[in-house]
Order: sequence, then structure tokens, then C-alpha cells
Amino acid sequence: MKILVVGTGAREHAICQAAIQDEETELYSIMSNQNPGIARISEFKIASENDIPTVTKFALEKKVDLAIIGPEAPLEKGIVNSLVKAGVDCVGPTMETAKIETDKAFMRDLFEGYKIGGSLVYKVFEDAQDAGDFIDDFGQDVVVKPIGLTGGKGVKIVGEQLKDNEEAKSYVKEVIDTKMGGYAGVVIEERAVGEEYTVQAFVDGKNIAPMPVVQDHPYAFEGDLGPITGGMGSYSDTDGLLPFLDEKYRDESVKIMEGTVKAINDEVGPYKGFLYGQFMLTKDGPKLIEYNARFGDPEAMNVLPLLQTNFVDICNGIVDGNLRGAEFDSYATVCKYIVPQGYPGKAVPNQIIKVDEEKIKENNTLVYYAAVNQKDNQIYTSSSRALALVSVGDTIDEAEGICEASTQFVDGDVYHRKDVGTSELIEKRIKHMQELLG
Ligand code: GLY
Repeated sequence: MKILVVGTGAREHAICQAAIQDEETELYSIMSNQNPGIARISEFKIASENDIPTVTKFALEKKVDLAIIGPEAPLEKGIVNSLVKAGVDCVGPTMETAKIETDKAFMRDLFEGYKIGGSLVYKVFEDAQDAGDFIDDFGQDVVVKPIGLTGGKGVKIVGEQLKDNEEAKSYVKEVIDTKMGGYAGVVIEERAVGEEYTVQAFVDGKNIAPMPVVQDHPYAFEGDLGPITGGMGSYSDTDGLLPFLDEKYRDESVKIMEGTVKAINDEVGPYKGFLYGQFMLTKDGPKLIEYNARFGDPEAMNVLPLLQTNFVDICNGIVDGNLRGAEFDSYATVCKYIVPQGYPGKAVPNQIIKVDEEKIKENNTLVYYAAVNQKDNQIYTSSSRALALVSVGDTIDEAEGICEASTQFVDGDVYHRKDVGTSELIEKRIKHMQELLG
């Protein structure tokens, strides 16, 4: 089967690896720069994944049977609408159904309209004064969210990026005045307190097949300090749960996602693709923080190496609407991202890094390349994350030890979080939840 993967990063490298496990796959890719991992296993074209006419033309030229869309930005622009119109089957939501990520007001209104559990107190505003009055009356810490996509940089939380509700009110004005995320509007939400986790699922419009739960580490530095990043690493456990999250809470989270998929179907049509639920376990149970209309990055790299079911069969099930579930190996995983010094925000791009893939492989670790560019047999960094290392083990602790040891085989002006997946950090999470749940 001819499969086109759209996107450039480690998530897309992991999707490509999963697709070629089926020996019938002929792999094509569109990426904005030369990812060495994707380049060596696909026939590729260097082009922006947001250039929809070029992607559609390439898909038709190569007569691809199926396109899999990695990132959210082309989904918002209607890449699936364009490909489907041209006769190419897609794993990825249409621009209407991707609104579950690309329009945060749509998402919260859907929860309210369809009485889906796990939502938060919220209100949508187009007027900064009205929003300010609401924040004053509400009296508790709030979260300010631009309605549209902001590349992970728009959401600000009182007590984290914002000092207090007064600062939140100034930020609301900035979001509305500058039309941040493409809308002159804002969503104000209550601040949820607890531990965050990710539930990803394959979705065929009606049925969902959940994957092992993962916890990401968004803060740049050890001890959850420093600025928010795209994700510095993540772990998953042998039973598909997390050390602080039991089956009951996982099942409740999946139920929330099932309710959402049904509501999207009733409201705008069938959602087909990968769905990423960012949850927080609070003292009142799971709360939905946000959805992404795609795989997580790094979370895709935790689950895809464990997939037992043929990934291409799953993709065909998504397209045909007869998804039959997905089985995963019962191993723990730890993923550590290697990023340029200065990331996020101040990294100097175009630095050479050396990756000893042979040694990494000998140490039972997988490599997924991210925002790097291959030129003249060298690998150059950009200002974003460089590569992810993923190890699998019988325990999280074992996977962490293997993964950490593999980091020595990457040379360059880079850093990573040594504490991702360590028992000290996981104990902290368990204790935090025990305190909250009482
Ligand atoms: N792990 C964060 C994201 O995929 O957006």
C-alpha cells in the first residue's frame, strides 16, 4: 500500500516506523526539512506541510492510497478536506472536526451542550472588560486560553506564567487586541490542580481504541522548573496505567473521550484519526484540559513501539469506520528528548550534532529524529527539539536507566532532563496525588 506521511518531526518519524512494519508499505513523505530518520525510509519531498496544494499534487502524482497527517496546523487549514476531495483516503480529521483542538470555545461548548463529564467552569469572551468582570466575580485562579492555535505558547495560568488574576486581565486584553491564535476572543477557565496525563486513541468516527496512558514533562529543567516546552520526555507503565492513576480514572477518561467523539459526530460529522486527550487528575477526578487532533509529541514515541496490532490495518479501519481495537505489548517505556542548549527560545540553530546510532541500538534504545536537518551527511540542529531516545523495559526504572545511558551517545551543544522517568520524580507525583485525594 502506498502511504504518505505529512510532517517533519519525531512524532512523524515514529508514525513512519510504525507504517513500515507492514512489509507491503511503500512510504512517501512531505517534510519541511530533511529529517534523517524519515528520509532513509521514504521517498520524500521537501515542502511545507501547510502547503496544501503541493501536498495534494504530490499525493496524486505518487498515486498514494492513504495519507496520514502528523501535525495540527495543516489539519486546521483543511488538508484532509483537500486530499479527500482529490480521492485520497486520510487518517486525520477534517477542518470541521479538528475544531476540537483548533477552536477551544467549540470544545468547551460541546462539553456543555452534550453534557460530557470532566469539563471545567469556563466562559468565552470577545470583550476584555466583560472578561475582567467575570474574573473579578469568579474570585479563584484562572487560566487564559486564546481560542485558536498558538503553537503551545498561548495558554497562561495564574500561579505559573501569570502572577495573579490582575495579570490575567492584562493578558486577556493582549489576546483579544492582537487576535492571538486568529480570533479576537478568549476562553477563561477555572484552574485545575492535580497531575496531568495523556490518553491517546485511534478513532474511526464512532469507535475508539485507547492506547497506554503517558505522562509528558513540559517544563524545560529538572524538578519541573523553567519555561514550558513542547515536551522534554515522557513515560508509560507496563499495565497501560500510571503509578498515580488507576484503572477507574483511566476508564473515566476514556468515557469522556467516547462522549466527545459521539458529540463531534452529531455536531459536525465523523472524527477520523488520532485523538489526544490532555487530562488532569484532580481531587474531583479526571478533568479534560484540552484536546489535540493528532498524536502527542513525545507521547507517540511511547506507544507506537509497543503496538502489536498492524498499524496499517488500524489506519484502514479508521478510514473504513470499522476499527477493531488495538493491542499493545505490556512493557514500560521512557522517552528523553535531546534539545539544543538555550531551548526553548534562545537556541542557536545550525549546530552540528553527532548521533552514534550503532551504540544507541546496541543499548536497546530507539532514535526518533525531530527538528534537525541533514545536509552533506551531517545533522544540524534548529532552535527546536533535536531527537528523542526511547527505551523499553520490564519496569519504568529499567527503561529509564537504559534511556539515560544512551544519552551519552549524542554529542553536541545539547541538554536533556535526567529526571524523566526516575523513581524520585514518580514518587513525587504519587505523593502529590495522595495528598489531593486524601
Ligand atoms: N506533548 C504535548 C503535545 O503533543 O502537544
